[in-house]
Amino acid sequence: MSHSTEHTCVFGLGWGDEGKGKVVDLLSPGFDAVVRFNGGANAGHTVCVGGETFKLHILPTGVLHETALGVVGPGVVVDALKVIDEIDQLAKRGIDVLPRLRISDRAHLVLAYHKIEDQLSESAASEGAKIGTTARGIGPCYADKMRRSSAVRFADLRDERDLAARVRRIVASKKVALRAMYGGDGGLDAAAVLTDIETARTRLGACVCDTTTLLQDFIDSGKMLLFEGANGVLLDVDHGTYPFVTSSSTGPNGIGSGTGVPPQLVTRLIGVSKAYSTRVGSGPFVTELTDALGDRIRERGREYGTTTGRPRRCGWFDAVVARYTARLTGATDVALLHLDTLSGFGEIGVCVAYRCDGRVFRNLPSSASQLERCEPIIEFVPGWSEELREVRRFEDLPVSARDYVERIETLIGVTVTIIGVGPERSQTLLRGGMSRVVREPLPSVA
Ligand code: GDP
Ligand code: IMO
Ligand code: MG
Repeated sequence: MSHSTEHTCVFGLGWGDEGKGKVVDLLSPGFDAVVRFNGGANAGHTVCVGGETFKLHILPTGVLHETALGVVGPGVVVDALKVIDEIDQLAKRGIDVLPRLRISDRAHLVLAYHKIEDQLSESAASEGAKIGTTARGIGPCYADKMRRSSAVRFADLRDERDLAARVRRIVASKKVALRAMYGGDGGLDAAAVLTDIETARTRLGACVCDTTTLLQDFIDSGKMLLFEGANGVLLDVDHGTYPFVTSSSTGPNGIGSGTGVPPQLVTRLIGVSKAYSTRVGSGPFVTELTDALGDRIRERGREYGTTTGRPRRCGWFDAVVARYTARLTGATDVALLHLDTLSGFGEIGVCVAYRCDGRVFRNLPSSASQLERCEPIIEFVPGWSEELREVRRFEDLPVSARDYVERIETLIGVTVTIIGVGPERSQTLLRGGMSRVVREPLPSVA
């Protein structure tokens, strides 16, 4: 099999759901390991191949390929029950991922009280303050990680002699805090938490190891790594549209802390974007279309959340945020997906700047309230009527579709090397430098 020549990261340039799963699946055959470095089961990565659809929340998408090891790094917050469920679901479909899965012993466990707190705090928040989380316990688990005393890591399951007693103490203090803050504890029960921990130990114990050393050894022996970002850079806890973000470093900046691999070794940085914008959950979204045009994008693109089923908010492509996230991450390539979804629009809008408080902004304002007040400055370009799903070469796209891709390239300043014209693995066009990564022709799908 042909092999990549560069350690590579695939990550989202937007607010998540850009199509990272599809791109990781496409590239996986060229890599020895596919590595998750951030987030947890808030992710929902879809792979469509040969009419079959897989939705993975916590396992790296690459585990669908027998040749790749799936690695869950120290930076991921792991809901072990969700991992077990995903392993069992894949086993029913004839895919045995357990022998190819490695979970870092430094990774933290998402436990029942994290999910309860996530739900209760969202329910208690006033309308404008709700983040619209996925309720997967992500924020509370990362908060415990930073707090340290109340955190549980996979290594503790193996090595801590008095873990059960400590967990009972953690649960007791969580119950007090939850009742004080939300008037109830969501039925939190120490015995149930300990049962979940025991299930994690028995079912996943064999996969838990020091993935940091494993990955460093892989690098030393010339094996190639593919890093699978979760969420999107606009949801990054430092650089996203705070506070309407997730609680991790979602771009390549998360690789060092989230895996222990020196980030400068990862030289191919593929930012994934849709040919328009979507967002699920609350927070500013300058190009959002709340009219029939937005509904049309949602229906054509099937824009409903992979993790929660929520309808995604839809809008025109926003070059202000795409340029911001591309510069922030040093993206070397852009994968532009869902070009097919834009067929049949007479003209297509691209946001080139914002207007706010009488000023024009070409860069993303830092404050959510200022961003809420921004109006998009839209440039309209001609659309195309042809359906694109059968197209396989860039040169065969309608001229307006090619012009649209090139306009986006110019605005972001990064070459578009992968184009999506449908959800299937085969519905992908590769351009120019991409042959450096995918040397073999795409797998033909029946
Ligand atoms: P991720 O979280 O970034 O992996 O993205 P999701 O899987 O949550 O959402 C992307 C959706 O778009 C999935 O349903 C994919 O099957 C679908 N998809 C990916 N690429 C394309 C494309 O080029 N065209 C169309 N129509 N659908 C696509
Ligand atoms: P993938 O990997 C889309 C959003 C949530 C919410 C905010 C915080 O599939 O692209 P959290 O549960 O993380 O505390 O929620 O972030 N969010 C995502 N939106 N795709 C994702 O992941 C997301 N992960 C988190 O909707 O607005
Ligand atoms: Mg998703």
